[in-house]
Amino acid sequence: MRRLFRKSNDHKYESPSFICMPLRTHEQVIGVLNLSRKRDHKAFSKSDLKYLKSLLTHISLAVENATLLKEAKDATRKLQQAVGEQSLQLIEIQQQALQSMEISHQAQKIEAMGTLAGGIAHHFNNLLMGIQGRTSLMLMDIDPTHLFYEHLKGIEEQVVSAANLTKQLLGFARRGKYEVKSTDLNELMKKTSRMFGRTKKEITIHCKFQEDLWAAEIDREQIEQVMMNLYDNAWQAMPGSGELILETQNARLDQDFSKLFSVTEGNYVQISVADNGCGMDEATRQRIFEPFYTTKEMGRGIGLGLASTYGIIKNHDGFINVYSEKGAGTTFNLYLPASENRVSEKRGTTEDILKGNEMILLVDDEKLILEVGKQILDKLGYKVIVAKSGQEAIEIYKEEQEKIDIVILDMIMPDVDGRVVYERLKEINPAVKVLLSSGYSITGQAQEILDKGCNEFIQKPYNLKDLSLKLREILD
Ligand SMILES: Nc1ncnc2c1ncn2[C@@H]1O[C@H](COP(=O)(O)OP(=O)(O)OP(=O)(O)O)[C@@H](O)[C@H]1O
Ligand SMILES: [Mg+2]
Repeated sequence: MRRLFRKSNDHKYESPSFICMPLRTHEQVIGVLNLSRKRDHKAFSKSDLKYLKSLLTHISLAVENATLLKEAKDATRKLQQAVGEQSLQLIEIQQQALQSMEISHQAQKIEAMGTLAGGIAHHFNNLLMGIQGRTSLMLMDIDPTHLFYEHLKGIEEQVVSAANLTKQLLGFARRGKYEVKSTDLNELMKKTSRMFGRTKKEITIHCKFQEDLWAAEIDREQIEQVMMNLYDNAWQAMPGSGELILETQNARLDQDFSKLFSVTEGNYVQISVADNGCGMDEATRQRIFEPFYTTKEMGRGIGLGLASTYGIIKNHDGFINVYSEKGAGTTFNLYLPASENRVSEKRGTTEDILKGNEMILLVDDEKLILEVGKQILDKLGYKVIVAKSGQEAIEIYKEEQEKIDIVILDMIMPDVDGRVVYERLKEINPAVKVLLSSGYSITGQAQEILDKGCNEFIQKPYNLKDLSLKLREILD
């Protein structure tokens, strides 16, 4: 305050002219303008006041504009941030939509493939059954010194190759899982590697199997097919000689690991198949599961082995990964969900054809199968009644159930299909013995009938020995 007043020459304080004006924006006082001591020491005049008022209005406006500008900038920044975040979300949603479209497209493709493969398998396996059946019949009447013996054996081998091709197609199309049983994979690995090793002496096979390996619910035939595909590839990658290392172990997969492979966390049985062969470069590795992708020369590979392996493992809710280095070797790791069920017993492994004399009702809508099937069963010593449709089978069984010991039942028939026939037979006689047979079944269909109590399943084309063993397994 002292600075506002000034000592006059006679040491008295004189009171100068003094102005105090509020600085306002929108009725809000944001400051005060204090003015004192005009240079000429005169009092502020009315015109000064007017000038100051107008100056104050300008200052207020400038302050207001600056505040608004700052607010606008803040709002713009926030908006930009929000738009940025929304855009990211949008991109993410778009990617998810594309991904699910791709997945559903892929699923549709696999579904269509499944229908196609199923249709081929059904007809093709019936035809092969006819070829196999007639060959079996001829082989039964001749001995190994016969001129045609080797040719007939050759035909049987070709039938097996042709049936393998349908199996690979079904595997890729995620079909062909007929009979699921709780299985000891160590046993399966021992069996398949022994079979493989017998013909591939140039390869050394090492086995490291975990004791007390968890069981897994699998279609044994399909997983055997998977192992054979992997052994074959390893063998082809090691021309001349090489080492094949087979391992099994219990694996507990945590959330992170299972998320990576889009499977549920939990207990899995891990199988590894490693070779020290030629390995693959990254470009090859990326494509190996594609159907018909092969790097092998014409006639050596068609590129279905790994595509079907992948489909089969997926269809078992498992997954597969591969490590490979060019020139160093390759390792495939398979993971199959572990099961707490007790391992169901193994099949008999006798090499002999087993005969019998019971009465069999053979049911099939294919004339060829009935014709050949009846002759095969005659040769095996059985008495046979044939039924060419589901309806006829039910009627015959009603009449002759006392005489009939077992029914061989085709699953896919145009009038009454195998499932319904089985239910009717069960109603007539709850203890009826049935061997289900098919060239192809829709996923789960065979299993459904087996779960209802049907004794066994045999896949067409089967040979004389397979059929004879299955029949004795049920009848004895
Ligand atoms: N163990 C391996 N070592 C090196 N390359 C491999 C191995 N396994 C697979 N491959 C590569 O993956 C390709 C695809 O394998 P896949 O088993 O699907 O078909 P294929 O063996 O060529 O033919 P197919 O199995 O139908 O007879 C092979 O051609 C080969 O290039
Ligand atoms: Mg292969």
